[in-house]
Amino acid sequence: MMVPMSVTLPRPAGGWRNSAWRLAETVTTPLVPADYLDLFHPLRPGADLRARIVKVIPETPDAATIVMKPGADWEGHKPGQYMRIGIDIEGVRHWRAYSLTHGPREDGLISITVKAVPDGLVSNHLVRRARAGTLVHIAAAEGEFVLPPAGKLLYITAGSGITPVIGMLRNLYPVTDSGVLKLGRSAGYDIVVIHVAPSRPDSIFVRDLEALAEAGAIRLVARYNDRDGGFDVSRLAEAVPDFVDRKTLACGPAGLLDALAEHHAAYGLDVVTERFRTARVEAGEGGVVSFEKTGTDLDLDGSTTILDAAEEAGVLMPSGCRMGICMGCVIPLVEGSVRDLRNGEITTAVPGETEPGGIKVQTCVTAAAGACRLDH
Ligand SMILES: Cc1cc2nc3c(=O)[nH]c(=O)nc-3n(C[C@H](O)[C@H](O)[C@H](O)COP(=O)(O)OP(=O)(O)OC[C@H]3O[C@@H](n4cnc5c(N)ncnc54)[C@H](O)[C@@H]3O)c2cc1C
Ligand code: FES
Repeated sequence: MMVPMSVTLPRPAGGWRNSAWRLAETVTTPLVPADYLDLFHPLRPGADLRARIVKVIPETPDAATIVMKPGADWEGHKPGQYMRIGIDIEGVRHWRAYSLTHGPREDGLISITVKAVPDGLVSNHLVRRARAGTLVHIAAAEGEFVLPPAGKLLYITAGSGITPVIGMLRNLYPVTDSGVLKLGRSAGYDIVVIHVAPSRPDSIFVRDLEALAEAGAIRLVARYNDRDGGFDVSRLAEAVPDFVDRKTLACGPAGLLDALAEHHAAYGLDVVTERFRTARVEAGEGGVVSFEKTGTDLDLDGSTTILDAAEEAGVLMPSGCRMGICMGCVIPLVEGSVRDLRNGEITTAVPGETEPGGIKVQTCVTAAAGACRLDH
């Protein structure tokens, strides 16, 4: 089991309580009382936000659902949102974003479903080594890819892109042992789901999707690469003739989302998308990045993000979504230039000329563009 981090409790205000607290801290040094509370009540109000894994459910050969009991300060989520989870692997905490695969549940538990990507550090750890009882760090739910108000919807998902969508569908139509429930809040929804996967056995949540389709809750268009040769966006009208009347939400690889955006633009339609990875432009020259406070210098190429390189070198870095959304990784650039890998834009800090204290840069999407110094 992971050893919980130490956190400091807000101190009781004034009087004998303060004295008692100080006495307790003295006799328990080097651990303060908050450390003991953390050991025995890591999910208590006021503690760093954590969750305890209660169950790991295999979904496909390389995907698993991690069901967790969140700490008391978890504020809930909207169906479709994601949360960040922090996992300690060999002494380094790694944060990644995962969509919540349920709407808010009566039992208060939350779940994510992770697909192990080749060479993926956190995804493989979660799918193959996560165990019930383990404590993980989490952050509050975020994201705008959420269940729209009732109406005609078209979801297009591929691979693990089904995860935020199943969260929205389950919130309307929970699949239970006694069948699919059509909750009152599902009134007024007319939903088509196109789901693309390498094959049926590789398709996460295929049984849920098929159960929803059989119950008449959704119309499912499954496209398996091994059976159907994938999904051709240009033939969307054949699969969903009334797609122009539907609000389209899509989650999947960049190629699919880009093709869909282009297809819809020709009809004057928007697509609401969720991307799990950032699209990158061609890299430029790298340079030596100096981390002033940690005293680390790294000679980096122009394609590796500063965040990835620093973590790899053992520098403790703040991070979050790792794709330029949450600002959880910003650090002041004090001198030199970095390149935004999403669009090639260069940011340059010149001491005495640009912002005092440095220009905040998102290290998860920037690479060195020559020598630079960071206030970290
Ligand atoms: C908003 C949001 C929601 C997400 N929801 C989910 C979810 O519900 N389920 C889920 O499984 N993942 C989800 N992800 C992706 C997840 O955050 C991680 O990026 C993914 O698990 C890979 O992390 P890793 O540590 O295993 O890989 P890393 O060790 O960071 O990377 C290893 C290699 O895999 C590549 N890689 C990184 N991410 C991906 C990816 N998504 N697909 C393919 N290759 C990749 C890297 O370029 C690198 O070459 C979501 C991401 C975002 C931003
Ligand atoms: S980690 Fe979210 S913006 Fe960089």
